[in-house]
Amino acid sequence: MTMTTAHTQDLRLRAEALFTASENLITESTSPEEITQLFHELKVHQIELQMQNEELRRAQADLHYSQARYFDLYDLAPVGYMTLSDKKLIQEVNLTAATMFGIVRSALVKEGISRILPNDNHQLIFYKHLKQCVESSAVQEWEMRLLRADGEQFWAHLQVAPGQNEECWLVINDITDRKNAEEKINQLHLEMEQRVTERTAQLKVAYQEMESFAYSVSHDLRAPLRSIDGFSLALLEDYGDKLDDGGKDYLRRVRCATQKMAQLIDDILKLSRITRCELTLETVNLTKIAEIIADELHSTEPERKVEFVIKKGLKVNGDSRLLKVVLDNLLGNAWKYTSSHAKSRIEFGRSKVDGKTAYFIRDDGAGFDTKYADKLFATFQRLHTEQEFPGTGIGLSLVQHIIHRHGGTVWAEGAVEQGATLWFTVGG
Ligand SMILES: Nc1ncnc2c1ncn2[C@@H]1O[C@H](COP(=O)(O)OP(=O)(O)OP(=O)(O)O)[C@@H](O)[C@H]1O
Ligand SMILES: [Mg+2]
Repeated sequence: MTMTTAHTQDLRLRAEALFTASENLITESTSPEEITQLFHELKVHQIELQMQNEELRRAQADLHYSQARYFDLYDLAPVGYMTLSDKKLIQEVNLTAATMFGIVRSALVKEGISRILPNDNHQLIFYKHLKQCVESSAVQEWEMRLLRADGEQFWAHLQVAPGQNEECWLVINDITDRKNAEEKINQLHLEMEQRVTERTAQLKVAYQEMESFAYSVSHDLRAPLRSIDGFSLALLEDYGDKLDDGGKDYLRRVRCATQKMAQLIDDILKLSRITRCELTLETVNLTKIAEIIADELHSTEPERKVEFVIKKGLKVNGDSRLLKVVLDNLLGNAWKYTSSHAKSRIEFGRSKVDGKTAYFIRDDGAGFDTKYADKLFATFQRLHTEQEFPGTGIGLSLVQHIIHRHGGTVWAEGAVEQGATLWFTVGG
């Protein structure tokens, strides 16, 4: 505005000077042609001035328009803007920021920044970031609560950047919705964790109850079973001559069934003991245990042609007594399920599976249909008949329990008549 006034005054002065000059230019000796020429000059100059004036007005209108646009953008930006003086006074505020704080813009201008900070602690945090911004001339950003005019607080993401003349620019983003959502998620997470802990504790109790029930039932069943078996034998021995062949056959079947049942009960007790006992961790030499088991297996059926290939130096951290049960069962199975072949090879080795160390026992025996690979580990589940290969179906169930207790996993691969490979890991 001042520029335009000065400019107009200047023009006026120059015009008057020109006029005076033109007056001085006209003397008695000035010819009429020269006077006409001078008038012409003055007229053209006046038109020129009018045109310049017009241009100036247009430029001013453009300037006003872009200033208004700038203020619209500034005021209605989706984030709050403030300019802070070096004395931490609010100098400029956009409309968005004023709305965020629930106050008219004029009531914030010239106020100290503490007006929007909930307490001393928040002031300390704010000033710390402001100081860092000034000292490092770098943008600082952080999240904190801010204070509305009605005393309510809201969560904001703040950015402070160095401005001109020791001013700072503050950008404020209301992140209340995001914070609420985060809080809700955290709350849900805590509730979930709480529920999982409760459920795990309940399951543990139920599991322990079930185990002690299974243990006592199995234990209590042994005595009557022994007596059925004992009296069947006594009957056969003492009164055998009074029975015909059919009667004796029935008695033999009773004895067979009771012995089978006693075996099942022993297996259940074994399983129960393994899940109850404490683990004693130490370095276990699996190679050595496997070699001893292989020798024992050979001595039970020396006529069989079975080659054991056991890798040297297989050592793990675990419970030696329980890991012996694992190898007993896996090598015992390999020995049993290769018995239908004239010659066989059983290998115990180590390999990497998905980046983890895994141990395997591979044989070239009867194998199994791989689609039942998961069923093998269920208690009393068998893929072969008693006539083909004897057994109760407890071995792999024991193996799985022990491996799980060591934090590992166990799985099987196989193909009918092409052998089986049982894999296990020890520890996570
Ligand atoms: N090496 C193997 N080759 C072929 N089949 C196997 C092998 N190991 C296990 N299986 C199959 O998995 C089933 C379950 O094995 P598991 O060791 O639990 O029971 P089992 O050997 O039948 O009886 P138990 O071990 O109680 O004497 C077996 O009945 C068999 O069908
Ligand atoms: Mg077995």
